[in-house]
Amino acid sequence: MSYVPPPRKTAAELRSARWFGPADLRSFGHRSRAMQMGYSPEEWTGKPVIAIINTWSDLNPCHTHFKQRVEDVKRGILMAGGFPVELPAISVSESYVKPTTMMYRNMLAMETEELLRSHPVDGAVLMGGCDKTTPGLLLGATSMNIPAIFVPAGPMLRGNWGGKVLGSGSDSWKYWDELRAGKITEQDWLGVEKGIARSHGTCMTMGTASTMTAIAEAVGMVLPGGSSIPAADANHIRLCSESGRRIVDMVWEDLTPARIQSHAAFENAIAVAMAMGCSTNAIIHLIAMARRAGQDIGLKDFERYSRKVPVIGNVRPSGSTYLMEDFFYAGGIKGLMGVIREHLDLSCVTVTGKTLGENIADAKVYNDDVIRPLDKPIYGEGSLAVLTGNLAPSGCVIKPAAMDQKFLKHSGPALVFDDYPSMKKAVEDENLDVTADHVLVLRNAGPQGGPGMPEWGMLPMPKKLLKEGHRDMLRLSDARMSGTSYGACVLHVSPESYIGGPLALLKTGDIVEVDVDARTINMRVSEEELAARRAAWVAPPVRFERGYGWVFTKHIQQADEGCDFDFLRTDFGAPVSEPVI
Ligand code: FES
Ligand code: MG
Repeated sequence: MSYVPPPRKTAAELRSARWFGPADLRSFGHRSRAMQMGYSPEEWTGKPVIAIINTWSDLNPCHTHFKQRVEDVKRGILMAGGFPVELPAISVSESYVKPTTMMYRNMLAMETEELLRSHPVDGAVLMGGCDKTTPGLLLGATSMNIPAIFVPAGPMLRGNWGGKVLGSGSDSWKYWDELRAGKITEQDWLGVEKGIARSHGTCMTMGTASTMTAIAEAVGMVLPGGSSIPAADANHIRLCSESGRRIVDMVWEDLTPARIQSHAAFENAIAVAMAMGCSTNAIIHLIAMARRAGQDIGLKDFERYSRKVPVIGNVRPSGSTYLMEDFFYAGGIKGLMGVIREHLDLSCVTVTGKTLGENIADAKVYNDDVIRPLDKPIYGEGSLAVLTGNLAPSGCVIKPAAMDQKFLKHSGPALVFDDYPSMKKAVEDENLDVTADHVLVLRNAGPQGGPGMPEWGMLPMPKKLLKEGHRDMLRLSDARMSGTSYGACVLHVSPESYIGGPLALLKTGDIVEVDVDARTINMRVSEEELAARRAAWVAPPVRFERGYGWVFTKHIQQADEGCDFDFLRTDFGAPVSEPVI
């Protein structure tokens, strides 16, 4: 079905005209205050006012360049006859924000929605990229539903240490384990520390950042090819000004997120996520984004696409060699979408006003080891698997593409920890009663229990096993893991243990059985025994008694529902109307 655009807007129909247009006292105030800032009426009258939601901060190394890039966005907006206004929003830096950025994704989403609603703006440029900023900005813009375009921060350059290429996250874990196993020196470790992040931009492995920006593009919210451009590349500067130019026209065309974010657009995003070997976090964010857009997407859809779309993006951690910089040179996301075009709905309209099919018509792959053909994938099918069973009735997730394949079917005794600090301490004990067959379990790490589902899911390998030469074991939690992590880690167990999900009933020594082919996960404990344990279960103490944490705990939904706040659901209450001016 081809897209039929609505009639073009007139200047009088601009949302901002309600603030600036009328010959009354209120509008007098708005105009005189604009003049207080040094603007002349010629600069805004009859022009789309474009909000630039900038998630720059002095403590977000992934967005350092946004301080300059916002000027490039403004240049584009001015060129196209718009009036740019910068509205900063919470930055949610993955590196620094504790206990976890996931606590604040929904805060950024609310802030974005309310910034757009409360100000005289007609369209929005969303500047994000560091993990949660992408879904946060898009969730808010989707609920507000004025024309919006996403500008990804772009991945940083490849890391380098002593001639070795280093990948964000993945190589930190790898060399940390090597250090703990006594295979590298403290001096080497310092070299890794200096060399692993060499430029501004987001993590350059296929972590959550690159997965989410690719998803933003696949769903139609980024200019074609934009999500793969490295942050330090001049192409990125031009992407910023071009996005500024384009949003002005999007306002005249009334090209809103609702017109772009169809069910098919989200299916395209899932297909791309699978082909990229996506971060497991993508599942949670994509479900939340789709549901905000009123589209029913769930774990079953990931399972469906995982079965048919192979991983062809040979980027770490699913791939073994390459990083996002290589992916860009190889043709980037456009190249990848070209290869999987048979799995995409090419009729979906995008921010260009054109269809996805038109956008990728000239897609090319320049290195088919980085972006593989469909018949030479790096992982055939099932790069992500959704498991269910008596341990996770609402599902959990594992990433077979990034784990030791011998754990795909495994049963072993559970070694259970109730909190992260005690587990962290125990794994350092070289006398710990653990074997490579054990299943290491952490609970109370879910949306409410963590709180905020910290990225603890790649539970650290016990030192004893590392010294024995093991580098993987089956691990199980209701936490998330970083997109740059790897290993046989079962994540997002739903419902979570903190609210009494079955994981809360597991005991050390119980046999846990995982069968990825059959998509099952069970504990070998009888129904009667589980019922007795359930009756004896005592809820852990409350985490927050006031403030944002309190709101979070009261309203956060489970992982399989996208961890959105229940009161932000599209179908919650009545739609919010435009403010009275
Ligand atoms: Fe910002 Fe990884 S820390 S993207
Ligand atoms: Mg991350």
